[in-house]
Amino acid sequence: MLACKLQYPRMDSVVEADLKQLKLILSIFHRYDRAIDATQMYQELAERLREELDYEREARNMALYGHMLADEPGIHVPVPRPELSTRRLLCMNWLDGSRLLSVADRPLEDRNKVAYNMFRAWYVPFYYYGVIHGDPHLGNYTVRDDNTINLLDFGCIRIFPPGFVQGVIDLYRALRDDDHDLAVKAYETWGFVDLDKQTIEVLNMWAGFIYAPLMENRTRNISDTNSGAYGAATAAKVHKELRRIGGVRPPREFVLMDRAAIGLGSVFMHLRAEMNWFQMFHELIDAFDGDRLATRQAEALAATGLTPAEAAA
Ligand SMILES: Nc1ncnc2c1ncn2[C@@H]1O[C@H](COP(=O)(O)OP(=O)(O)O)[C@@H](O)[C@H]1O
Ligand SMILES: [Mg+2]
Repeated sequence: MLACKLQYPRMDSVVEADLKQLKLILSIFHRYDRAIDATQMYQELAERLREELDYEREARNMALYGHMLADEPGIHVPVPRPELSTRRLLCMNWLDGSRLLSVADRPLEDRNKVAYNMFRAWYVPFYYYGVIHGDPHLGNYTVRDDNTINLLDFGCIRIFPPGFVQGVIDLYRALRDDDHDLAVKAYETWGFVDLDKQTIEVLNMWAGFIYAPLMENRTRNISDTNSGAYGAATAAKVHKELRRIGGVRPPREFVLMDRAAIGLGSVFMHLRAEMNWFQMFHELIDAFDGDRLATRQAEALAATGLTPAEAAA
């Protein structure tokens, strides 16, 4: 059976009108709240939104994910049908599944399996290939009766250079070992510039929040690590600090990684999964090698017809 997405011709102009509106709202917002520079955020969102209009590219992204996750038995990716597709019509095979929320009633063991598959679906592409699926929205995947997942919607992905993945791992090590210089180096590879002492402290606080689930080698619920009162307090404090020191421009890389981490965190909370996040993370990064990632990434792009220019976008 086929699944198809069709785009109406007026979509392009609708998106452009929406973007104009968004820019206006962000500029007003920025006048009131100088804590976050909205320019980068606008550029990231604009590019991702425009990108979603090109289904030929989305079909290639889908093929890329099929390639990267081919060895993951718990994750299914639709196979695009290019001979039936155009820039505005995307056809693929139909994947049966239910919404994530339906899993909430299953026993813990099943919910943990779904959580494991979600973790692998987002982070195998990232740590092995430097590719992130930028949209862990509930509508973008479904769950099968055997607790495997269908990953859908490849309109919003991003391909990073190997050095960026190294930076994400470096930041983890820096936090774990309390290594100030390594943290600064990592923020720079994340795209932050002109970092002063105060800004670094605020970023350390934020990173401590995002990386909290990975810091202890034991099985636990994600909300025991960084949510609830502690999470809200940390977020509020970071926000206040950023405002006090006069505004930090979040790099676009940061925006996407942040969205993935927060989005997945809320999925794991919904699932009430109890996992050893530390161990799952180490399975992915212990053998990290930037050169091997570069080779794997180039092979994957070549195999699925993505051009280097698209890869750099
Ligand atoms: N291959 C597929 N098989 C079955 N259902 C699908 C498939 N692809 C998408 N869907 C259904 O359509 C919905 C929207 O698909 P998605 O690719 O996220 O479109 P959009 O770009 O509009 O967000 C999904 O939530 C899912 O329910
Ligand atoms: Mg979608």
